[in-house]
Order: sequence, then C-alpha cells, then structure tokens
Amino acid sequence: MTQPSFGVIGLAVMGENLALNVESRGFPVAVYNRTAEKTKTFMAERAQGKNVTDTYTVEEFVKALAPPRKILVMVKAGKPVDAVISQLKPLLQEGDMIIDGGNSLYEDTQRRTEELEAVGLGFMGMGVSGGEEGALLGPSLMPGGTPEAYDKVESIVTKIAAQVDDGPCVTYIGPGGAGHYVKMVHNGIEYGDMQLIAEAYDLLKNALGLNHEQLSEVFAQWNQTEELNSFLIEISAEIFKKIDPETDRPLVDVILDSAGQKGTGRWTVVSSLELGIPIPTIYAAVNARVISSFKEERVAAKEQLAGPSGKYEGDVQSFIDKVRDALYCSKMCSYAQGMALMGKASEEFGFNLNLSEIARIWKGGCIIRAGFLDKIKAAFKENPKLPNLLLAPEFKQTILDRQEAWREVLAVSNQLGIPVPAFSASLDYFDSYRRDRLPQNLTQAQRDFFGAHTYERVDKPRGEFFHTEWMENS
Ligand code: 6PG
Repeated sequence: MTQPSFGVIGLAVMGENLALNVESRGFPVAVYNRTAEKTKTFMAERAQGKNVTDTYTVEEFVKALAPPRKILVMVKAGKPVDAVISQLKPLLQEGDMIIDGGNSLYEDTQRRTEELEAVGLGFMGMGVSGGEEGALLGPSLMPGGTPEAYDKVESIVTKIAAQVDDGPCVTYIGPGGAGHYVKMVHNGIEYGDMQLIAEAYDLLKNALGLNHEQLSEVFAQWNQTEELNSFLIEISAEIFKKIDPETDRPLVDVILDSAGQKGTGRWTVVSSLELGIPIPTIYAAVNARVISSFKEERVAAKEQLAGPSGKYEGDVQSFIDKVRDALYCSKMCSYAQGMALMGKASEEFGFNLNLSEIARIWKGGCIIRAGFLDKIKAAFKENPKLPNLLLAPEFKQTILDRQEAWREVLAVSNQLGIPVPAFSASLDYFDSYRRDRLPQNLTQAQRDFFGAHTYERVDKPRGEFFHTEWMENS
C-alpha cells in the first residue's frame, strides 16, 4: 500500500465522508479522531478494505503521512481548530500543510494563515458545502490561501469536488481568509433562500389552504422551471411528502417552528454592517430564525395581539404563479446583495475575488446549487465590475416583468397578516435601489439641526458641506 500524504483529522460525518471521497478518487488516506472508538467504528463499518490508515495518536497520524503532508482538519469551528493546530504544529515540517475545512470565521483563518506561514507551514481555509451527501459524492469547495498552497492540493480537490457542465465545483478563491469569507456569504445566501422558501410555503399553506400533497406538487413543478430549479426547492417537495409514522400526519406539521443556527448567517450580517453593504434579505432571514425561537412568547402574544386572518379569495392557480414570481424576484435581490457584499470584501481585504467563478462553483455540490447560478456566472463574466446583479440585462428584464405580481403578493400578505419579512426586505431593497431620490435629505437636515453634522446640496458639487443655524429667524 502506498504511504498516504493526505490525512483527515475529525471523523464526524463530514470528515468521514470527505475521507472516503478522497480515497475513492485513488488517494490513500490516513485518519485520526480524538476518541479512538469513533475511528474503530469508522474502520469497521465504512472503511473496511479501503486504502485508509487508522491512527490513534496525533504523532502516529503525522508519522503515517509522507511529506509534504496535506492534513484536512474537520473539527468544530473555533477553539477546537486552534487546539488541533497547536498539536500538529511541532510535529510538522516545512512544506506540510493544514487545510481547515470547517465553517471557521474568516478572521480566524486570516490569523492562522499568518501564524503558520511564518514558520514555513502551509495553511488553507477551505469552505466545504454540500452536507453529508455532498462531502461523500462531490461537494462545492472554496479554498483560500496562497496560490502555492492551492497548487499543492489542486489535483485532489478538483477530483473530489462536484462536477458540472463547466468543470469541477472548486476554484482558487483568494488569499488568507477568502475561502471562508466566500463560504460565509454562501451560507448567508442559504439563509435567505431558506427563508424565502418558508414564506412561499406559509402563503400557499395559510393564504390558499394547500395541503401537503398539493404543496409537494407545486414545489416539484417549480423545481422543473429554469428559474427556480434548485436543491432547496427539490428537497422541500420531498419534505412535504413525508408522513410521520407516529401520528400519521405530515412530518413537517409536527416539527416545532423554532429554527436553529450556528452563526454563519449572523457573521454575514455583521460583516455587511462593517463594510457598509446592505443585505436586508439575508438580515431578515437571520431575524426570522431568531423570532421563531421565541416560541413560548409568541404563543402567549397570540392571545393579546389580534390581527387580520383569513384566506385569499381570488383565483388559486394565478396566486400560486404570483408567489412563484415573488419568490424569484426576492431571490434575485438576495443574490444581488450577497454578490455585492463579496465585491466589497474583495476590494477591502484584497481577496481579488472572481465573482463569475464563484457563481460557477456554486452550480453543483453546495446547498444553494441552482440552475440560475449559470446566469449569475454569465452576468459577472460579461461585466466583472457589475455594480449590482439587478442591472445585468437578463435579471433586470425578469424583475421588471414580474414586479407587479411581486407587489400583489406583498399586498395580500399584509392584508392577511402573514409575515413575509424576506419578501418585503427584498422589495424594499429593489425600490430603494431604483429610486433616484430617497428621503434621507430629511435625515441629513435633522443631523445638521441637532448636531451640526452638515449636509451636501443638490445644486453644489459633491464634497462641499454646508451647515445651517436652523432656529435663526424662525
Ligand atoms: C453547507 C451548509 C453547512 C451549514 C449547515 C447548518 O453549505 O453545507 O451551509 O455548512 O453548517 O447548513 O447551518 P445553520 O445551523 O447555521 O443553519
């Protein structure tokens, strides 16, 4: 058996599946997990007869690998990653490389890269998307680090990644924390997509009264359309079909309406606030999860805060189509926000991101994989400096064609008292972005009134500031 030069630390499901994926592409692999029991079970149940070397101490793991070593760390983001790095660091030699494949905060990745590069070790922060199945059969990979570090892993990552019509779903993303930054935004967009789908579901179920079979059919049909074809729509159609064996009810109806989150959506919002790029749809999605978690409070509030209720009275099929249009328009806004955020981060942090390539590697393997990413890829290929996705000819026309339906869906939601925070945030984003004059002239006047913060004038060049003594002669 050839000695492996690739190893995986951390045998939770993502680590196990990535190790098996790498092995299946013809690369021998060494594995290590903190608890030996886990490694033994993995070897007995999943890695038997495979080119996998099991090790039970970090020293043994490092010795099992032929230099230059490539060590994929698949442990929980945060302190566990630092702990593994400090165990490995004294045992490695120049030219060896650690790849963090977890959902680490990009600033941590930046710091770790600097620390390890300073002692001659390579480090990459690599976003991995696709869940369990993606990890095993082909994820979307977002590796960041030095180009030299990427060269060393290119032959492996291009083979283990999902493959689409225009290549493997992996590309060199950029230096330092670029890979984890892009993965973070991927997750922010994932939050947006999931919330928009949840709102469409709420409307179909509660404004129209569709049952779980009808919901499944509508989502399956939407998944056949060029614009909405996507993994998340596809799995939603499956979810609606699942019956809970205990109660015989649709399982989705039995699931508590309180959403969890691990932090990447929140980090995306924090970064957007720091960089001054509005991502209201994604922010609304994070907030929707937060408010959903106040289950008991909401149940109590229902008794006190009455509002409208009832069903939509118009034509059912035509409203379903309008919800589909609203979903698509909102989705375009959400992606426009995510892409704009990455554009700004690229400038600010020197990531030199290729937005067209990023859209391409999201076409397969990852959670947000969708047909329409091909259009995003084309839009940024055509114009890498596109200030906003909504201005790309194809998106512009689609949104203009469908805005009436979108507005109607929001009006109906408001009338029926059905919350649609991400649909609304998207429409507000669209309406704000397309307005040449917003009411912030008044905001500026107020700031100048109470704090002498000054303002610019419409009839004077930008950059000239004025102050008024507002209460004089009045
Ligand atoms: C992916 C996912 C994954 C994420 C989970 C849970 O791309 O494969 O984004 O990385 O960890 O979806 O995220 P939340 O717990 O924050 O929903």
